[in-house]
Amino acid sequence: MRQRMVRIKMARRDFRTMKISGKHYRTIWRLADGTVQVIDQSRLPFAFEIRSLDSVEVAAHAIRTMVVRGAPLIGATAAYGIALAMHHDASTRHLEASVALLRATRPTAIDLAWALGRMHAALAGIDAPQRAAMAWSIAAQICEDYVAQCRQIGAHGRKLIEALAIKRRPVNILTHCNAGWLCSVDWGTALSPIYMAHDAGVAVHVWVDETRPRNQGASLTAYELAAHGVPHTVIADNLGGHLMQRRRVDMVLVGSDRVTAAGDVCNKVGTYLKALAARDNGIPFYAAMPVSTIDWTLQNGEDVPIEERSPDELTHVTGLAADGALATVRVVPAGSPALNLGFDVTPAKLVTGLITERGIYAATRAALQRLNEDRRIAHA
Ligand code: MRU
Repeated sequence: MRQRMVRIKMARRDFRTMKISGKHYRTIWRLADGTVQVIDQSRLPFAFEIRSLDSVEVAAHAIRTMVVRGAPLIGATAAYGIALAMHHDASTRHLEASVALLRATRPTAIDLAWALGRMHAALAGIDAPQRAAMAWSIAAQICEDYVAQCRQIGAHGRKLIEALAIKRRPVNILTHCNAGWLCSVDWGTALSPIYMAHDAGVAVHVWVDETRPRNQGASLTAYELAAHGVPHTVIADNLGGHLMQRRRVDMVLVGSDRVTAAGDVCNKVGTYLKALAARDNGIPFYAAMPVSTIDWTLQNGEDVPIEERSPDELTHVTGLAADGALATVRVVPAGSPALNLGFDVTPAKLVTGLITERGIYAATRAALQRLNEDRRIAHA
């Protein structure tokens, strides 16, 4: 079989990917006045607004209401939430209460518990007067680590995309929800390999699942891919199977909120159906995540706690009205009950591989054990 050589060139480009109107942003950062700033993702793509978090209660509210969302960013915000808590009251009682408050905000993304565990382990054993400075420093380190890990995920995953770039057309990648720079501190998880392949000159095209009910795909993934100039098309959640049957998808690439020790992948609801369709059509299905997203204590995908959110997110849709104002409209009859479960679990047997900062691993217990050999990750 003759394969066309693909010329891969590294574009001379600023690799800090998140740019809004030409200015580089991360999703979260600290100001000298002791506040933490975040991009309000509940307003995107219609408005780009920065919110200031000045207490642990405000940080918890931002996570709960999805001003910030996506597994690594939830972890980073929780870490800064603890720093804000220690800034105001560094007592042990306040530390314990703040960890409990933040841990209760969202149940599925394990990075929340992981970040809280790391903060608690560092702060519980030191004297109260030292806690605030230590907390700020570790929260900043967690953010730096996420950036480095997501960059490594991109470097590993990019090779999979390049290997598919053997035809005269772009590599078609289907993704679900938002696993780009907005879900993390920079780069993202599943989108990081796509940005790197694109920046290296590989022709890619992304099928973006709209991701009902909150539309993270249509709102956030489309927004950031457009900002970076990556060709993409938003599709209804139900179109993916058809596109796979017609050979219009080369690869499915998603993020994850929690991976079990057996390699089952929990991600935004609807991911499992994409994995089934991918398997039926012989299309590789990869999930990308930092190692902190692996829950070593969970052996069984059925034990992943699945968040249930307000039915209002399903019965109502928010968008831009013809007059340019944001409008929320009801799309379900007033008397009909609605069930809004936020995540599902794709069994390991449907997962082609897990892209982590340490490399690409099979979704099997044995492969993950090897990954974990040198370093155990603790969760709060
Ligand atoms: O409910 P969200 O928007 O926080 O869900 C986010 C996702 O499901 C992402 O796909 C997931 O966090 C993986 S990317 C880190």
